[in-house]
Amino acid sequence: MLAGKRILLIIGGGVAAFKSLTLIRILRERGASVVPVLTPAAREFVTPLSASALAAERVYTELFDLTGEAEMGHIELSRDADLVVVAPATADLLGKMANGLANDLASTVLMATDKRVLVAPAMNVRMWQHPATQRNVATLTGDGVLFAGPTEGAMACGEFGPGRMAEPEEIANATRDALADGPLRGRHVLVTSGPTHEPIDPVRYIANRSSGAQGTAIARALAGLGAEVTFVTGPAEVPPPAGVRVVRVETARDMLAAVQDALPAAAAVFAAAVADWRVASQSGNKIKKDAAGTLPQLDFAENPDILATVSQMQTGRPALVVGFAAETDDVIASATAKRARKGCDWIVANDVSPETGIMGGSENAVHLIHADGREDWPRMTKDLVAAKLAARIAIALGATGEPGEQGDTT
Ligand code: CTP
Repeated sequence: MLAGKRILLIIGGGVAAFKSLTLIRILRERGASVVPVLTPAAREFVTPLSASALAAERVYTELFDLTGEAEMGHIELSRDADLVVVAPATADLLGKMANGLANDLASTVLMATDKRVLVAPAMNVRMWQHPATQRNVATLTGDGVLFAGPTEGAMACGEFGPGRMAEPEEIANATRDALADGPLRGRHVLVTSGPTHEPIDPVRYIANRSSGAQGTAIARALAGLGAEVTFVTGPAEVPPPAGVRVVRVETARDMLAAVQDALPAAAAVFAAAVADWRVASQSGNKIKKDAAGTLPQLDFAENPDILATVSQMQTGRPALVVGFAAETDDVIASATAKRARKGCDWIVANDVSPETGIMGGSENAVHLIHADGREDWPRMTKDLVAAKLAARIAIALGATGEPGEQGDTT
């Protein structure tokens, strides 16, 4: 899917800039052409000559490079590409992007482009965790900027944690997904994933064992088919996939609000393990042990049912609504009843009894329940379940292209 594509690669100033040279090589090996833009700081780490030699293209460094009559203007430079990739995306570049600053070539191109932008952040762990960076990341995610990484690991500065740039291979895969020309191209699909956390007081919460693995795999597979995916995730264990718009939430009520904000969508997949109840009167202060040993009493209130709310929308309902049913008893009967009760089109049912090892594991054995009956899919990896489900969604939406059973092992 990279063949024939033109990538504008903005290289920011960070130690990881050397990995961007490998990225250029991989993208070119996969058939893409790469036009590098180096920020002034990037030139302290890699030379324009090495980027140019690997890309076999002219390298752009200064805004004023582009003012000559014979040169391309920064508007054209930004529009000429199929995708803009920023790697490494430094804290400074993210800050400029989030705040609309345009005082050099890289930031000007990023403001002027009409193409999707994929960023691969790289910075010291504290810089990544700094509230300013996290605010910028949230703003950019909301603007539809796609993220690849960062990953966690030992860093050049000697610290350990999130902030390391994703490996060039991963960034190349995210680039491919962002350019995906699949059957769901241009279709917006919503996916919920992960657990929700329902606070008891400022330090305690009620949660469940969902890792977010299945929802993440589904979002990745849908993006791989070209869908524009909004991924609404609770505090999951697995990181969100690259190439999707990520909305992070904590409680069921936040998740419902984020889902409603993200609509309309052609399809919605509700893979989140939403807490059914929340603590009715959440304490504003930490609940203390009392000297007499009186135990705290928690009163519960029912959370909104996000799947049922969306399934029963009178206007603006997605054409296809897919729910999940995690059951431990009478899986088929319970899931069939759940489909009718909630009003969704399909239910993906699975048995989450501890002996199945499904909750938190890498495999799943599901039944797809729809109006015409049910299909029993054999046990397979969660990635394959996701690929099969995404292909089925493409078919159901009547997507043209190659909606065939990609990833089908049955
Ligand atoms: N779901 C939801 N909002 C909730 C609860 C569940 O959107 N408040 C969605 C889940 O994302 C999943 C489906 O509903 O797609 C089924 O969730 P499950 O917890 O199995 O169903 P419950 O409604 O809790 O039914 P029961 O308690 O009878 O198992």
